[in-house]
Formats: sequence, C-alpha cells, structure tokens
Amino acid sequence: MSNAAILKIGEKEISLPIIEGTADEKAVNIGALRKETGFISYDDGFGNTGSCQSDITFIDGDKGILRYRGIPIEQLAEQSSFLETAYLIIYGDLPTAAQYQDFSNRIRNNAMIDERMHLIFEGYPSDAHPMAMLSAMMNSLGCYDPHLATNNRAQDLANFDEAAAFAISKVRTVAAASYRMSRGLPINYPKRQLRYAENFLHMMFSYPYDDYEPIPEVVNALNLMLLLHADHEQNCSTSTVRMVGSGGANLFASISSGITALWGPLHGGANMAVIEMLEEIHADGDDGSRFIEDAKSGKSGKRLMGFGHRVYKNFDPRAKIIGAACDDLLNKLGISDPCLDIARKLEQEALADEYFVERKLYPNVDFYSGIMMRAIGIPVNMFTVMFAIGRMPGWLANWKEVASNPKTRISRPRQIYQGHVLRDYVPVEERG
Ligand code: SDX
Repeated sequence: MSNAAILKIGEKEISLPIIEGTADEKAVNIGALRKETGFISYDDGFGNTGSCQSDITFIDGDKGILRYRGIPIEQLAEQSSFLETAYLIIYGDLPTAAQYQDFSNRIRNNAMIDERMHLIFEGYPSDAHPMAMLSAMMNSLGCYDPHLATNNRAQDLANFDEAAAFAISKVRTVAAASYRMSRGLPINYPKRQLRYAENFLHMMFSYPYDDYEPIPEVVNALNLMLLLHADHEQNCSTSTVRMVGSGGANLFASISSGITALWGPLHGGANMAVIEMLEEIHADGDDGSRFIEDAKSGKSGKRLMGFGHRVYKNFDPRAKIIGAACDDLLNKLGISDPCLDIARKLEQEALADEYFVERKLYPNVDFYSGIMMRAIGIPVNMFTVMFAIGRMPGWLANWKEVASNPKTRISRPRQIYQGHVLRDYVPVEERG
C-alpha cells in the first residue's frame, strides 16, 4: 500500500502521508489539510480521529484485545497486582524487584494528606457527591506541595516520580475521607504497614480501636478491579487529561480534569447507573425482559447501562474477567445478590437479541464491576471514585507522555460555525 493517501476536492488533489502503528493501525495524517485546501476535517465524537501516537495501551475493539505496554490484560489479571501494573503502565516495563520496592515504598510513605485538608472536607454538605470532592481535592494536592505543581513543564517532569506517587497514594486517602465525612465518621489515617488495597479498605471501614481486617478474597477482588481499570487508551477522561496537560497544566490539575470527565454516566458513571438500573428492574418485579424492550425502543431515554462501547464491537475483555471474578467473590462471601441474577439474565437475553447483536453491543467493564464493589461493601455513590483510583496510572502515564514529548502542541480543535453570520447590536428598547 502506498504510504500516502490522495484527497481530491474539486479540481485540487493533495497527497496526505499515512502513519502506521506497531499493531497495524493506520491513519491519514491530515496536518497539512487546512493549509493545502482551506478545509478542515469533521468527526463528531472523534470516533474516527486519532489525537496522538502513544506507546501505553493497545485495544483491538473487533477482537476484544486489551494490552498494557504490550502485555495482555488476561495475563496481568492472572499474575500481576494493581501496583505492579501501575508501574508497567507509567514507566513502560514490568519493574525489577528493586524498582518495585522503591515504587511501592514511595507510595506507602505518601498516603497522608495535609491535616488542613480535613477542614475542606468539613466544609462540604454531608451529601456532597464524592466525585465532586475527589476532583477538587486532587487538584488541591498541588497547593500543599507547590514544588510538584509549578506549571513549568521541565520542573514538573523532573518531579514526576514524586508527584505520581503522591497521586496514586493519596487518591485513596481522599476517597476514603469523602466517604467517612458523608457518614459523619472520623477520617481514618493511613497505616504505612498496610499494602495498597488493604490500606484503602482500612481507611474506609475501620472504627476507632476496631481495625477493619479484610479477608484475602476481598483484597484480591479489589486489586483485580483496580488493575482492570488502570488504563484504556484515549477514552473520554484520558483524552481530557492529555488535553489539559497539553496546555502545560501540572499533573494534579490534569488528573483532576480526568476525574471530572469520568463522572459522566456514559463514561465512568456507568457503573453506578448499572446498579441503579438493576435495582429498578428488581423493584419493578421485572426479570429484565421488559427493561430490554424499553432500552431497545429508547423509551424515556432508557439504555442498557453497562452495554455497548465506542471501541469494543466484541466482548470487552475486562467484562469477562470481572464477570467471572464476581461469581467467585459472591460465592466465597456467601452472598446471593438478585442484581447478579438479573445481570446474567440481561446479558443472556441481549446477546441473543437482534437489536444488540446488529449494533455489536456487548457487556463492558461497568456491567459487573458495581456488583463486585457492592459485595466488597463500597457504596454506590463511590463506584466511580473506585474507577478513578484504578484509572490513576493511565492518567499519569498519559500526562507524562504529553509532558515529555518536546513536539507536544497545545490541543486546540477547530469547528464549523453554524451561527448568525453578521448582525448589528439592537438597543434593549427596540427589542420588542
Ligand atoms: C466506559 O472509551 C472507553 O474506553 C471508556 C471505558 C474506559 O475504560 O475508559 O471503557 C469505560 O466508559 C465504558 C462505557 C460505559 N457506558 C455505558 O455502559 C453506558 C451505556 N452505553 C452507551 O451509552 C454507549 O454504548 C456508549 C456511550 C458506551 C458508546 O456510545 P457510542 O459509541 O457513541 O454509540 P451510540 O451512542 O452512537 O450508539 C450506537 C447505537 C445507537 O442506536 P441507533 O441510533 O443506531 O439506532 O447503539 C445504541 C444507540 O441507541 N446503543 C444502545 C446502547 N449503547 C448504544 N442502545 C441501548 N443500550 C445501550 N447501552
């Protein structure tokens, strides 16, 4: 195949270079389009537009493939841990024992948040959404360690390792604190002797003089859940982090924008929406069949939440792994959750239903993750917070990729204007 695409607009014909990725992805580089033709491209929702070239994560939506730095998600889910996978995503290779020790110590030693942040938590209403608090607090981390948030790219890059460890470690502390405040409970301090997931569960659920000691199955399930969410190519929130970082904004400001983007129900908020959907179906005494009909007709805007994906037109490999782990955990905990039975029924019916089949709508990562989180004891309004904790390594790796690329330009898309072309100001008394 030639390494250029020919575009003909009217009588004008231009040649546009073709970019090929290491996994056979191909793109037409339209960098010269506007200068050569006066035209821009248009792609609502960017479904056909590459915003960057990245070495971090590869997805093949047709084959249901997901690889972090070339390693299949199935192998990492089976053999790795969230923190080891976080190192892989951020630094590009699996860590040696010494590198892992250094990385996990940096995280273990930086879980505390500045005591004055507790005062900020006290200022929120008790029903404030934890995602609102999380995005505000993660941005505020830079206020207490301004040397890590200078908006001077070279300096912020030089301090990246410390800032990244702060973000991965403290996101747990902030998340748990928002939960404790919403319950009127004292904020728990992290314990350095606890490993990553255990420390989070301790901060969430321990009582004074009565430490919460999770069973290994719960810790493993949480580790797996975080690992499966660790990165996912140029999704809405990660692209947001890259866009904000492209302007030179520091790491905390950039990940705070990612948290905000993740909150939407079509993105990371879907895990909450799935449980709300399953509970609605259960409360209506429906086995899911009626709901599926409503979702197909788009009645009252209903969608089968946790189904469909912009990229996966086959099974989301993460959904398969979480679905199996969900069964495992609930069996081990002796929990029988009617929502799981309804989810299984929905999956079975939808996968045999022409509407979903022809639109290639399969369960995505959010379909089962909420059931697993509920079994662990995480409240529904914290589900997307858990997604943010998991996605932190991906956001950090993408911010670093933007900041360390000397060719990075600020992201600034164009538009096609469809408003009034030209009109005069009319004084208020003449406006009728
Ligand atoms: C995540 O990008 C990522 O990688 C995200 C993520 C990550 O790890 O970062 O994977 C995490 O966000 C997963 C997705 C979670 N969201 C949901 O589960 C919400 C329900 N799903 C959808 O709303 C939808 O499928 C999206 C948002 C995920 C994808 O939307 P698209 O690609 O813009 O597709 P679309 O809305 O244009 O839908 C195409 C057709 C439409 O029907 P027609 O107009 O062709 O008749 O499929 C229908 C839609 O109505 N459709 C659904 C549906 N999803 C799409 N119909 C019913 N139920 C659904 N869930």
